[in-house]
Amino acid sequence: MKNILFAAAEAVPFIKTGGLADVTGSLPFAFSPDEYDVRVILPCYTSIPAPLREAMRDVTHFDVQFNGRSRYLGIRELTHRGLHFYFIDNEDYFGGPAPYTDYMYDIEKFCFFSFAVLAALPHIDFRPDLIHCHDWHTGLIPPYLATQFRYDSFFDGIRTVFTIHNLKFQGICGRDELRAISGLPADLFAQGPLCSGSCGNMMQGALYYADLVTTVSRTYAQEICTPEYGEGLDRFFAQRTGRFFGIVNGIDNRVFDPASDPALKRHYDVSHVKAGKAAAKAALQKELGLEPDPEALLLAIVSRLTDQKGMDLVLPLLEKITGGPCQLVVLGTGEKRYEESFRRMADARPEKMAVKTLYDEALSHRIYAAADAFLMPSLFEPCGLSQLIALRYGTLPIVRATGGLKDTVRSLDKEGQNATGFVFENYDVGGLNWALDLAIKTFFADRKTWEKMRRNAMREDFSWNRSAEEYSRLYRQLLP
Ligand code: ADP
Ligand code: GLC
Repeated sequence: MKNILFAAAEAVPFIKTGGLADVTGSLPFAFSPDEYDVRVILPCYTSIPAPLREAMRDVTHFDVQFNGRSRYLGIRELTHRGLHFYFIDNEDYFGGPAPYTDYMYDIEKFCFFSFAVLAALPHIDFRPDLIHCHDWHTGLIPPYLATQFRYDSFFDGIRTVFTIHNLKFQGICGRDELRAISGLPADLFAQGPLCSGSCGNMMQGALYYADLVTTVSRTYAQEICTPEYGEGLDRFFAQRTGRFFGIVNGIDNRVFDPASDPALKRHYDVSHVKAGKAAAKAALQKELGLEPDPEALLLAIVSRLTDQKGMDLVLPLLEKITGGPCQLVVLGTGEKRYEESFRRMADARPEKMAVKTLYDEALSHRIYAAADAFLMPSLFEPCGLSQLIALRYGTLPIVRATGGLKDTVRSLDKEGQNATGFVFENYDVGGLNWALDLAIKTFFADRKTWEKMRRNAMREDFSWNRSAEEYSRLYRQLLP
């Protein structure tokens, strides 16, 4: 039996701002309990829902020296669905209404989190053989392990895997600031593992010191070896073949299941998809004040509203979408310019378009179920979970061929009867327009093909089993 500890800034059901939380809150359950004892460690944000916080037990607390002074480090614990979750408590760092606050303060709080995870280990009844770190927030765990903590034999032989969920965010700040905050040895910052020029970079530290590095789809793993997608680190990846792998994400089939989803009034599976989706569509049109038109092609977006998600391609097509036989529902928060543009169009054509600029898990499920097609024309997409959820609810994705979108959606123009969606190549409005036209044509003029695609989509298996097996293979490489 090997012990694995997942370290991350988010995990459902405790705290979620995006797909990272879906992954760290569901992948740990997919490993064989005969082979691995997988546990998860998170910051103990005060924004974790009260019932979950109240259910936590205090393990211990003590003070540590960090960034020039003594800091409180509490450890709390909770068993959720049979799995152990640990929480690093420090209200100065993890208080407030949201997990992320000010950019520089986030850098400091996640330097502290990385340090605190290791400082906590000797005090919990669990010594990991391997720490699986996720995204830049945990980027300093491998460098701390290789330096400050290596003098304590407790840490001997602990291996690390680092998974990149989004290379866009690396935890970059001034080199001298990162050195001062982290307290890591100065030689790591002398054009070394933790800096490029005058910039300090937390993720770079993990890429340098982790035993293995992965990212969340095969195509993204290839893309980030190029300057176009590499965010300044492309040469690093290109040189590390054999130590760098792409493993596509899955989704929690229990949480995302139209046959049992508590957010839906009427449940459906692949054999009752037509009636199930028709009921969900009628209910959503009523709820959001859209025209109660069963024949409309209902398009949906559930997303962070940022340039990553291709919103610049959607805006120029809003006139066309809402002026024709389509309706559009947008659920998302993000950049004001996108929120406002969507809102303006929805105000002008409320019978055709509805916008909710908030984060609402249950509404997102009702939208996935109600929509006919899901718009996700991303500029880049490490994996993407929304298109996987859409597929599971029989909602056909309209996506750009990038990252995980390319690996998980089969395009009608190339795959014919095996297709599950509509895929365009180039990042331009013309590309999305082409895919949208193909979807409109198929929906209105070839309903048989649409229904076949919908069944294909619902029969896809994006449960975690396959990916968990791939991660297990990597763990076995490091823990023979
Ligand atoms: P990313 O992590 O880049 O935001 P993913 O597609 O991997 O994108 O995951 C996004 C997750 O967040 C999905 O579970 C999606 O349903 C959810 N989500 C995004 N925006 C909202 C929102 N406004 N309300 C509810 N869920 C949302
Ligand atoms: C990031 C990526 C997204 C991915 C998610 C989970 O937020 O933007 O593509 O699905 O992480 O890995």
